[in-house]
Amino acid sequence: MTELQAYPMNGGDGHHSYTKNSNYQKNVMVSAKELITENILEKLDIKSFNPPISTFRIADLGCSVGPNTFLAVQNIMEAVKFKYQKLEIESEIPEFQVFFNDHVANDFNTLFTSMASNREYYAAGVPGSFYNRLFPASSLHVVYSVFSIQWLSKVPKHVVDKSSSAWSKGRVHYSSAPDAVIKVFEAQFRSDMDSFLSARAKEVVQGGLMTLLAPGRPNGTAHSLSPLNLVFDGLGPCIMELVNKGVVEEEKLESFNIPIYHMSAEELAEAVERNGCFSIEQIEAMPNIAVNFNLPKEKICLHVRAIVGVLVKQHFGEEILDQLFELYLNKLEEHAFKFNPQMEKAVNIFAFLKRK
Ligand SMILES: C[S@@+](CC[C@H](N)C(=O)[O-])C[C@H]1O[C@@H](n2cnc3c(N)ncnc32)[C@H](O)[C@@H]1O
Repeated sequence: MTELQAYPMNGGDGHHSYTKNSNYQKNVMVSAKELITENILEKLDIKSFNPPISTFRIADLGCSVGPNTFLAVQNIMEAVKFKYQKLEIESEIPEFQVFFNDHVANDFNTLFTSMASNREYYAAGVPGSFYNRLFPASSLHVVYSVFSIQWLSKVPKHVVDKSSSAWSKGRVHYSSAPDAVIKVFEAQFRSDMDSFLSARAKEVVQGGLMTLLAPGRPNGTAHSLSPLNLVFDGLGPCIMELVNKGVVEEEKLESFNIPIYHMSAEELAEAVERNGCFSIEQIEAMPNIAVNFNLPKEKICLHVRAIVGVLVKQHFGEEILDQLFELYLNKLEEHAFKFNPQMEKAVNIFAFLKRK
């Protein structure tokens, strides 16, 4: 479990697929569209690229199975073309090449079969973890990653080590855990972001841009007070119920953890400063894009299943999925996971960086 590196979203286009259950991510992305366009128009310095560009390369890291990635790529391409038009150099608009990256186990077949046939770019799939190098040096002009860097590269090993003071007994997510557990998750996030940024620093051309968007928490907010964390924390008691019913072994529960970390804008900015290769054009929480907990509970349940279903299946086996998410839905409906009105709003962290 601690060495597990890949936990893609539910593939295909069925009832439980990410394709059918990623509307929330789509809405956030659409809300960020203008910010991304404005930043590209303002910060993309086409004339600084040396040699001049004949192929403009865009990478979406953690693209999943679509359809959100296609909208995002279209948006970026339109903004870049608009920039050429504003500079009155339309005749120099380059060809576009788009790299769709995700874990090797991602359902790339669904992604590629749903790609528009009239797309105006050359498409390529790039399998592998974005915590490693994925592209040749200085080859990318825009990197885009949305709702992906909250996934850590792995569960920190101390969390599932019974002899460690950071053992997270009986929990599947760090948010409500003791400080020692939270600290190792914080350290894992720092180390992962350092790897992510140092790989991208090599791959992005000088003057190239990187835009990141991830679910997070407001600066200074304790993890236990971030409503997003409750969504995952709530799975713990449901798995415990399956342990009590004899469906799941307790050992299995004790060795399971969800490697998702909800960063603050400050933590992300610190990582960029530590790396030193990118200028921060913008990093901020977007509280205006609130997480809507008033959605029908079934939708929240399907959404969570599309995200962590594969992870649960890998660890516990497919046979517990229906039972587990039925319990989870019941808990959501009973309001067993009470969202405390004192809690700070869940936020999405937006970053726009430029390679120095
Ligand atoms: C919630 S989905 C987001 C998909 C898409 N960007 C969107 O906004 O709809 C997160 C994606 O990140 C991918 N992912 C997580 N960690 C990754 C890693 N280390 N390397 C590559 N992809 C990763 C997952 O496999 C998943 O497809």
